Amino acid sequence: LDNGLAITPPMGWISWLKFGCNTDCEAYPDNCISDKLFRKMADIMSSEGYLDAGYQYLIIDDCWMAEYRDNKDQLQPDPKRFPNGMKDLADYIHSKGLKFGIYEAIGNYTCSGYPGITLENLEKDAKTFAEWDIDYIKVDGCYANKKNYKKTYTDFGKFLNNTGKPIVYSCSYPYYLEKAEQRVDYSYITNICNLWRNWNDIEDSYSSMINIINWYSMHQERILSYSGFGSWNDPDMLIIGNDDLSVKQSQTQMAFWAMLSAPLIMSADLRTIRPEFKEILLNEDAIAINQDMLGYSGFLMKSILGVDIWVKPLAVIVNDFPTFAVLFYNKNFIGNVFTVSLLDVGAYIIHSYTAYDVFEKSNNQLVLPNENFTFSFTSEMMLYKFIPNGD
Ligand code: GLA
Repeated sequence: LDNGLAITPPMGWISWLKFGCNTDCEAYPDNCISDKLFRKMADIMSSEGYLDAGYQYLIIDDCWMAEYRDNKDQLQPDPKRFPNGMKDLADYIHSKGLKFGIYEAIGNYTCSGYPGITLENLEKDAKTFAEWDIDYIKVDGCYANKKNYKKTYTDFGKFLNNTGKPIVYSCSYPYYLEKAEQRVDYSYITNICNLWRNWNDIEDSYSSMINIINWYSMHQERILSYSGFGSWNDPDMLIIGNDDLSVKQSQTQMAFWAMLSAPLIMSADLRTIRPEFKEILLNEDAIAINQDMLGYSGFLMKSILGVDIWVKPLAVIVNDFPTFAVLFYNKNFIGNVFTVSLLDVGAYIIHSYTAYDVFEKSNNQLVLPNENFTFSFTSEMMLYKFIPNGD
C-alpha cells in the first residue's frame, strides 16, 4: 500500500502470543490486557534497547474492548482495564518515542468474541481510531463474509486514509481465503494493505514455526515476490523468548523472518525475557537483512543433499559488488561439514567474498573466486552475509 508507511517491514511488539485474551485483572493484575501492561512494555521498549534496534510499534491485540459499544454506538475500551481511555494511553506511548497499534476485526465479532467493526460502522470506527491517535491497525476477519472481504477491507482502508492520520494497515483476510482454498489476489492486496497474514496462527511451538516456514517455501512462487516497499507478507509473530524455542531454534526463526522480509513483531514478556533471547531479537545484522532497502524477500534457490539454500539480495554495495544473505537450513543432511560452490549461492564466481556468520559474529571466512565455500553446521540453520572483497 502506497501510503508512505512500512517502507521496510514493521517492527514492534504485540500482546497476543504471550498474554492472549487474559482479561482477569483480579487474578492476574500484572498479566491481564490492561493499560498498566502496555505502559510497562512501552517503558521497557524505549529504555532497554528495543526501540533503538528498530522495534517501534507497540500493539494491543484482541480483548481490549468493553463487551458492548457505548450508547452512541462507538467502540470503547473496557473501562476497568483501560480507565484512562485509549487516547491517554496513546499519548503515553508516543511520549516514549514509540508508535501505537491496535487490533480489531471486520464483522460482528473479533476472533475472541468482542464487538467487531460491523459494515455500518466502517467509517465511524476508522474515525474513532484516528481520534485515539493510533499509528497501526491489525484487522482480523473471523466473522466476516468471505465473499465481501475484498470490498470491506478496501472500504475500511479508504476510511482510514480519509482520516488524514497515517495508519499502517495490517490485513488478516488472505489467511482465511488460503485456509478455504480460495484464490487470493495478492497483487490487489499489495495496493490496499501494508502487510497481510498468509497462513496459520503461530503458536509457542517449534513445529508450528517450521510448518509456517515450509508453507512459504512450498508456495514461494505464488507469494514471495509480492513483498516490497509498503507491502509485506506476514508469517505472524516472533515467538522468541517464550517457553518453547531453544536458543538455536530462536536463531532459526530470526533468520527466516529476516530472509522473508517479514514484519518483526515480538510477543514475549519483555519484563522477564532471558538475555540470550533478547540478544537474538536485537541482532543487528539479522535486523539489517530484514530491513534492507531493496525490499526483496529471500527465495529458496535450491536444495542440495538435504540442505535448503535461501538467498536474499541486499541493497548494500561493497567494493562495487552487491552483498547478499544466504541461509542454509539443514533438513536432513548427514554429516557436519558442508560444501557449496559460489554459483550455488548466487554469487559472482569470479569474485572473492567474506562470508560473515550473522549469529556467531566472529566466524568470518574468506571465499576465493571459483572456490567452494565450506562450513560446519553448528546449528540446524546457518545465516551468512556474503560481503564482496576488494581486488
Ligand atoms: C486470530 C489472529 C490472532 C489473534 C486472535 C485474537 O486468531 O490470527 O493473531 O489476533 O485472532 O483473537
